[in-house]
Amino acid sequence: MKVTVGVCGGIAAYKAAELVRTLQKQALDVHVVMTEAAQHFVQPLTFAALTGHKVITGLWDMPESADADAASSIEHMDAAQSTDALVVAPATANVLAKFAHGVADDFLSTLYLATTAPVIVAPAMNVNMWQHPATQANLEVLANRNVRVVAPESGYLACGMTGAGRLAETETILEAVLSVLHHRNDLAGETVLVTAGGTREALDPVRFLGNRSSGKMGYAMAEAAQRRGARVILVSAPTALRGPANCEMVPVVTTQDMRDAVLSRLDQATIIIKAAAVADYRARVPADQKLRRSGPLTLELEPTEDILAAVVERRRPGLLVVGFAAETEDVLAHGRDKLLRKGADAIVLNDVSREGVGFDSDRNAVTFLTRDRAIELPEMNKRELADHILDETLRLRRPLQVLAETDADLPVTSGD
Ligand code: CTP
Repeated sequence: MKVTVGVCGGIAAYKAAELVRTLQKQALDVHVVMTEAAQHFVQPLTFAALTGHKVITGLWDMPESADADAASSIEHMDAAQSTDALVVAPATANVLAKFAHGVADDFLSTLYLATTAPVIVAPAMNVNMWQHPATQANLEVLANRNVRVVAPESGYLACGMTGAGRLAETETILEAVLSVLHHRNDLAGETVLVTAGGTREALDPVRFLGNRSSGKMGYAMAEAAQRRGARVILVSAPTALRGPANCEMVPVVTTQDMRDAVLSRLDQATIIIKAAAVADYRARVPADQKLRRSGPLTLELEPTEDILAAVVERRRPGLLVVGFAAETEDVLAHGRDKLLRKGADAIVLNDVSREGVGFDSDRNAVTFLTRDRAIELPEMNKRELADHILDETLRLRRPLQVLAETDADLPVTSGD
């Protein structure tokens, strides 16, 4: 889940660094927006180093990845749509006034208007500014709009006065953020092993056989599982993505590497999600030296081992195995065939012939296929989809009687 921290210009701006770290420890992907005044107190570099993301300091900054799509999009709308919560700490009297009156003259105030995500403000200021009727009236307006106000604490203030105005404790702000995010902990005690990305098979020292997988779906699965309390092992073929904080990253390149990494950790896993796009063939004998161009070339390929099948062969009772399949035609038929052939508990079926979803996109639409059910999960953001896939995966553990009682629309029979 993504949380945007807005930092305003006040002495307490330095405390936002601790808040960022605390949020990251909850496996949240934290992005920072700073007002102009905040940059007089703390350098954007501090937050960039902590989060690994570019800090947005102005309305006209370029997006993080300035590729064609991103560059053509309006950055504040993108940021607004993809954040799950906006927390402003410290929030100055000025920013509270801007939020209350809809003034959008910098990135943070624009983001406030553009986002539909829950907003939390943690004010910090001089005691007289805090008590001023203008500030209190603005807070009332914001509270009436469902902005969550984490009240400042009393004590010695940087201005030399004593009274209310000190930024609330980091833990108090964290609690407010978690409560608006409806933090679930339903995967506590589980170890989820996720494979992601596309494996690569060398043809020569500079070329490989690969595929179009970006790894985004697998990383979203890892992030969602971790957020829901699971211990996560992410076995990842090369991608351009950063793994979620605190998960065990196992970088691999080839199908054989991935197989070894997965099988050697099989005992630890309680759920396996095989989102990786695995190379099905490799060069029988990769060339030692770079292949030179000289007329037509025939490559001799041999099949790689099917990791999913190897997992199923060695599975112990209770281990849930979910595969993915990217198909371009007869999607459901191929999916059913794969489910039965591979012996997985479920296959997440992806029709990659559809525009705007699937490979390298942030969105996807899939069918969660089990032996007795085909659940359509309509087009949505991959992070949201990851949660639905986990929900359906956990349902596989629930006894059928419970399914029958609670999900009247679902068939009661099992193929198992
Ligand atoms: N898979 C695997 N090992 C392989 C190939 C695939 O573990 N060597 C896994 C993938 O991670 C995925 C599932 O099997 O979870 C389906 O992958 P897919 O490439 O669609 O299946 P294939 O067996 O390659 O079938 P086909 O080539 O007929 O599409």
